[in-house]
Amino acid sequence: MLTRREGIQAAALTALSYSRVLGANDRIPFALIGCGERGLYVAGIFQKTTQVDVRAVCDVFGDRTDKAVAQAAGAQPFTDHRRLLEMKGLEAVLIATPDHWHKAIAIDALNAGKDVYVEKPLTRLREEGPEIVRAARVNNRVCQVGMQQRSGDVYLEARERYVRSGLLGKISHVDCVWHGGANQALPTEPAQKPANLDWVRFLGALKYRDWNPAQYLDFRAFLDFGGGKLTDFGAHWLDVVHMFMASDAMPNDAPLSAVAAGGVYYDFHDGRTAPDTISALFEYPGGFTVSFISLAVDNGPEYHVEFLGSNGRLYINRNRYEFRAVEKGAEPVIQRFPGDITGQHVRNFLDCCRSRKLPNADVYIGHRAAQAALLANQSYLEKRRIRFDPQREEVLPFSA
Ligand SMILES: NC(=O)c1ccc[n+]([C@@H]2O[C@H](COP(=O)([O-])OP(=O)(O)OC[C@H]3O[C@@H](n4cnc5c(N)ncnc54)[C@H](O)[C@@H]3O)[C@@H](O)[C@H]2O)c1
Repeated sequence: MLTRREGIQAAALTALSYSRVLGANDRIPFALIGCGERGLYVAGIFQKTTQVDVRAVCDVFGDRTDKAVAQAAGAQPFTDHRRLLEMKGLEAVLIATPDHWHKAIAIDALNAGKDVYVEKPLTRLREEGPEIVRAARVNNRVCQVGMQQRSGDVYLEARERYVRSGLLGKISHVDCVWHGGANQALPTEPAQKPANLDWVRFLGALKYRDWNPAQYLDFRAFLDFGGGKLTDFGAHWLDVVHMFMASDAMPNDAPLSAVAAGGVYYDFHDGRTAPDTISALFEYPGGFTVSFISLAVDNGPEYHVEFLGSNGRLYINRNRYEFRAVEKGAEPVIQRFPGDITGQHVRNFLDCCRSRKLPNADVYIGHRAAQAALLANQSYLEKRRIRFDPQREEVLPFSA
């Protein structure tokens, strides 16, 4: 268990504690670990800033490191992140492996003195969060979690204008929706494992099983590799709730209870374990509830978070917000923000590597978002409502 002090306040990163103070024009020696879809995309954003020098890339699949080297000419390829971390001079790493590897690689990188940008969800298991937070604090490293909403102007502006200003009034419910990604049969090819793919290393700490293309190509469909839609989509949206509902009096970054129901309703008979449809309800200490729903097919309302207040409703996604006052006839206020907010998040990380400040989606914030999502997964699996102590970070015994 982390106290709040350990979690946030004791986290002053100082330039003095950092052995290699970077100048404004120095390129940061950088590496990518996990060269799949997200890794290559975010590494490309890092490259576009011209603030990094990609010196190394790592993946368990040779085809993926080949692609990464094609994108970052001159980068040295690795299969094992521990060998990459031995490379002299690296300052920062981007971790974009599947979720079951986040903890081990993040801790190894932090212990090796690197600043870390690790994709969301920070963790696959609740107990992993405090361990990663501790590694970041003990080593005095910047650790940004890939929850880009924290740096997006659309979110920052809407929070100031409608929530912090009090304009929305009392917010008693937040509605989170993100559909899609689970309405297709899982891949069955390649039937033979590619020779240049280290399957055992891909499995890492998980129980050994023979090559399974579905598990390699769609880890999100299996609950031992990740947390399904609750952590894949839900961690993002729950973090938006935490971001908007935090106040000096109440962090509101962990629920008092979580309950979830759902299932594998599209029966593809392909062995998936993550529900394709899930519906979760959370109760927060600040006196509000949060719902999250995700259907298999993306044919419902578009992805969004909506804050329901006594004076109006604030609807928000990555590219726009809409405010509707409760008064009849009031014109809605709609603001659009084109472009991908990930660029703003990457820039915040790079700024913090230089300033040694805490990043917008600091590791503790990432831990709390994943924790909330994982509590709902526990409820789904155990078919019971989970009661939680946000301070002690403990599941409470059932009481009527
Ligand atoms: N922030 C966002 O909006 C966002 C969007 C998409 C994905 N993500 C996150 O990014 C991560 C990766 O997702 P993806 O869609 O790119 O998955 P992916 O399957 O396309 O890529 C994962 C890559 O990691 C590699 N890998 C697995 N174990 C490894 C290890 N031990 N060392 C090195 N490489 C290893 C795999 O071979 C693969 O190339 C996930 O955690 C996901 O949740 C975040």
